[in-house]
Amino acid sequence: MTLLLRTQNLSAFYGDFQALFGIDVEIGQGETVAIIGANGAGKTTFLRAVAGALAAPPEAVMFEGRAIGGMAPHDIVRLGIAMVPEGRRLFQSLSVEENLLLGSHSERNGPWSLRRVYELFPRLRELRRLPAPSLSGGQQQMAAIGRALMSNPRLLLCDELSLGLAPVVIRDIYQCLGAITAEGTTVVLVEQDINRALDASARFYCFQEGRLALAAPTKNFDRAALTAAYFGM
Ligand SMILES: Nc1ncnc2c1ncn2[C@@H]1O[C@H](COP(=O)(O)OP(=O)(O)OP(=O)(O)O)[C@@H](O)[C@H]1O
Ligand SMILES: [Mg+2]
Repeated sequence: MTLLLRTQNLSAFYGDFQALFGIDVEIGQGETVAIIGANGAGKTTFLRAVAGALAAPPEAVMFEGRAIGGMAPHDIVRLGIAMVPEGRRLFQSLSVEENLLLGSHSERNGPWSLRRVYELFPRLRELRRLPAPSLSGGQQQMAAIGRALMSNPRLLLCDELSLGLAPVVIRDIYQCLGAITAEGTTVVLVEQDINRALDASARFYCFQEGRLALAAPTKNFDRAALTAAYFGM
C-alpha cells in the first residue's frame, strides 16, 4: 500500500477546548476509509484539520510525504485534498454551475471537468442555471460533491453525505462514489449512518471523545469492540 495521508499525533483545539488527542491515521492511495463515532467525537474536526481549517504542527499531517499541517486551505486544495463539508455549504446566491466552477480554481489537471461532473450527475446539467437554494437536499449534495471533484482531488474528504436525505437519494449518491473511486481518488467517509459507511469502505476508524478508539477492516470485525469504541461502554 502506498501511503497517501498520514496523521501523526494530531491534536486540535477550539480555543482552550481540546477536540482531538494525538490521532494517528494512515490512508493508502486508492482506499476508501470510513471514520465513524458518536456526536462530538471529533470526526468533522479531524477532516477540518487535514483540510487546513485548523492549526496543526506541519508534521502532524503528512500528505504524499509532505508535511502540510497548518497550511492554508487553498494551498491544501491545490495539493489535491478537497472536502465535501457537512451541510453542503453551497453559495446560495450563485447558480449550480457557478458553484461547480468555484471548485476549479485550484487549476489542477485530472479527469474531472464540468462535462464529467454532469455525466456523473445528469440532473445537475438540467438544473445548472438555477440558484443553489432551489435544489433539493440530494441535488445540493450532488453539487457539493461535484464542486469538490472540480479541483481534481487525490483525496476526497466527505462529511455526512447522507445527513437529512431520503434512503433512495442516499443510495444514488453512494452509487456515484464508485465512479469517483474508479478514477483512483482516495475517499474518507465520515458518516452518522454507520452501516452505509461500512458498506462503502474497506476499513474504518472509530473516534470517541477526540481519541482514536478502534481501527479495523469492515469485513469480519468484532461488533462488540465497535459498540465499545463507539459508545465508550
Ligand atoms: N467551532 C467550535 N468551537 C468550539 N467547539 C467546537 C467547535 N466545533 C466543534 N466543537 C467541539 O469539538 C468536539 C468535536 O466536534 P466535531 O464537530 O468534530 O464532532 P463530530 O464527530 O463531527 O460530531 P457530529 O457527529 O455531531 O458531526 C465537540 O465537543 C464539539 O462540541
Ligand atoms: Mg461532524
